Amino acid sequence: MSRITTIEQYHEQYKKSVDHPEAFWAEIADEFTWKKKWDKVLDWNFSAPEVSWFINGKFNITENCLDRHLEKDGDKLAYTWEANDPKEPNIQYTYKELHAEVCRFANVLKKHGAVKADRICIYMPMIPQAVIAMLACARIGAVHSVVFAGFSAASLAGRIQDSDCKLVITSDGAYRGVKDIPIKEVVDEALETCASVTKVIVYQRTGTVVKMNAGRDYAWDEEMKNASSVCPAEEMDSEDLLFILYTSGSTGKPKGVVHTCGGYMVFTKYSFENVFQYNPGELFWCTADVGWVTGHSYIVYGPLLAGASSLLFEGIPTWPDPGRFWAMVDKHQVNILYTAPTAIRALQASGLEYVTPYKLNSLRVLGSVGEPINEEAWAWYDTHIGKARCPIVDTWWQTETGGILISPLAAITKTKPGFATLPLPGIQPLLVDEKGTEILGNGVEGNLCIRFPWPSIIRTTYGDHERCRQAYFATYKNLYFTGDGCRRDADGYYRITGRVDDVINVSGHRIGTAEVENAINMHADVVESAVVGYPHDIKGQGIYAYVICTNSEKNPDSLRKEIIAEVMKLIGPIAKPDKIQVVTGLPKTRSGKIMRRILRKVAEGDLSNMGDISTLLDPAVVEEIKKGKI
Ligand code: PRX
Repeated sequence: MSRITTIEQYHEQYKKSVDHPEAFWAEIADEFTWKKKWDKVLDWNFSAPEVSWFINGKFNITENCLDRHLEKDGDKLAYTWEANDPKEPNIQYTYKELHAEVCRFANVLKKHGAVKADRICIYMPMIPQAVIAMLACARIGAVHSVVFAGFSAASLAGRIQDSDCKLVITSDGAYRGVKDIPIKEVVDEALETCASVTKVIVYQRTGTVVKMNAGRDYAWDEEMKNASSVCPAEEMDSEDLLFILYTSGSTGKPKGVVHTCGGYMVFTKYSFENVFQYNPGELFWCTADVGWVTGHSYIVYGPLLAGASSLLFEGIPTWPDPGRFWAMVDKHQVNILYTAPTAIRALQASGLEYVTPYKLNSLRVLGSVGEPINEEAWAWYDTHIGKARCPIVDTWWQTETGGILISPLAAITKTKPGFATLPLPGIQPLLVDEKGTEILGNGVEGNLCIRFPWPSIIRTTYGDHERCRQAYFATYKNLYFTGDGCRRDADGYYRITGRVDDVINVSGHRIGTAEVENAINMHADVVESAVVGYPHDIKGQGIYAYVICTNSEKNPDSLRKEIIAEVMKLIGPIAKPDKIQVVTGLPKTRSGKIMRRILRKVAEGDLSNMGDISTLLDPAVVEEIKKGKI
């Protein structure tokens, strides 16, 4: 059994995973259903990079998520779905029902010409059909690329073009709190520049009027009417692509992170079971959106592989009021709640009057993900939600890692506020200095790297392998570089301190500064811009933009509004700058490089010591920037 139940077992398994990684993972992989077992467990080198797990293994992940449970647990609950509007009835799916829906939709995809290895874009709200669509793709061997439905038409188009998607699955609209967002319109606009897409399948969620393009657009319900619920699963190789998920990096263009079938399957189930210590019969609730990796790994694949029951939620934490999460915990008797620090902080700020009416006594484990959790939010979560009896698992990982790498195991690992604590078995973290020299011992800080592959490590960035090498494997020789700074304390516990590259983490969402700058620069009056993050009470980090403008006569308020509109159009609301300061120059070195350190300090409100500015082309600009701070 791969389930760890004591801290001694953790240490034993950890040691085994380092001393004999192949034997360790082979034993875990053995618990899955394979059509043909692998010939070799692992092949790797981090310089190419080239990583293959469970080589020549044949199987289909949906048989492991669904079919495998049918005989004994077919009537077990897979999902309870709660709509945005609490008055709308819940919908439940047993494993048997989910299996049937997935097979039916897989047949719809086939009917529309989708075959193995085709890329299919999913742009949907948090409704069961989004999960069904993902699994249906996996069933037929198509590669899903889920795009968060808050991204703009331009962002969606960029992602569809990058991976040449053939089909798009969407809905007419999306409910989010009081909003009713016409997302099919966004798809229509995106598709004006996406020649690869020949079919669009539209689920009717809100009933908003949509334009159905004859010969291209098909209604989900109509297509499902006559679809058979029998659909044999496509046989996949361990290293066949399972999905692409776009994420921001330090350059302007998001990268298509590629995960493959075998390793991802093994690691998501293993990490789900061990981190959350899920027990049969419990209800797990991950509040993420399926548009992010957390949704992929811990709403869809991890829990289903483990035969777990999950809650799926369409809405937002603050609507109809900020007690929504807690009302849902009581109503559904949620046992494990996995959410993000930004949500915790927002609910904390709303006041205890939204918490105290609820019992919350079904909760057993609390989780946090997406960004560093500050100690105050940790303590609030612990005291008022967990009632000081639920362990908090602060789970550190990334889109590229596929699953949780550093985290307490619930009720097994002693926790410490703000610390992701210890690596999971199979994960070999290390800290390095700027030159890549390993920093040994405890009570140290450095850049977080991993020295050995784990099964769900990123395989490539879609269509551009060199980019993958450059971004993750070239900074330090023979190491995977996470982009995060990290402290290892006297007990050997890891605490992630945040990104050390040009990526900002806004409400747990990764946003590249270059991406926002590119969007701002599209405004006709903008000559140049520089974007940095700054501490934000609720979002963790906010976006601060310094902008040089050609038109000095322009009213700064209208300029700000127009810039925000530009960013919303090109990226989406999540990348909206919180503060925009108009400047006449940026602090640049003689070689033309922007000294972001200075911009960060000003944005943080630390105007005292700017450090050495003698290498700047025009040191006077610093004073002006300080004076104009917003
Ligand atoms: O900086 C780290 C932060 O989120 C980044 C990964 O973002 P993304 O790929 O969007 O995935 C988010 C969900 C897994 C990391 O490089 N991060 C994630 N979890 C934590 C965290 N920072 C601190 N503590 C965490 N628990």
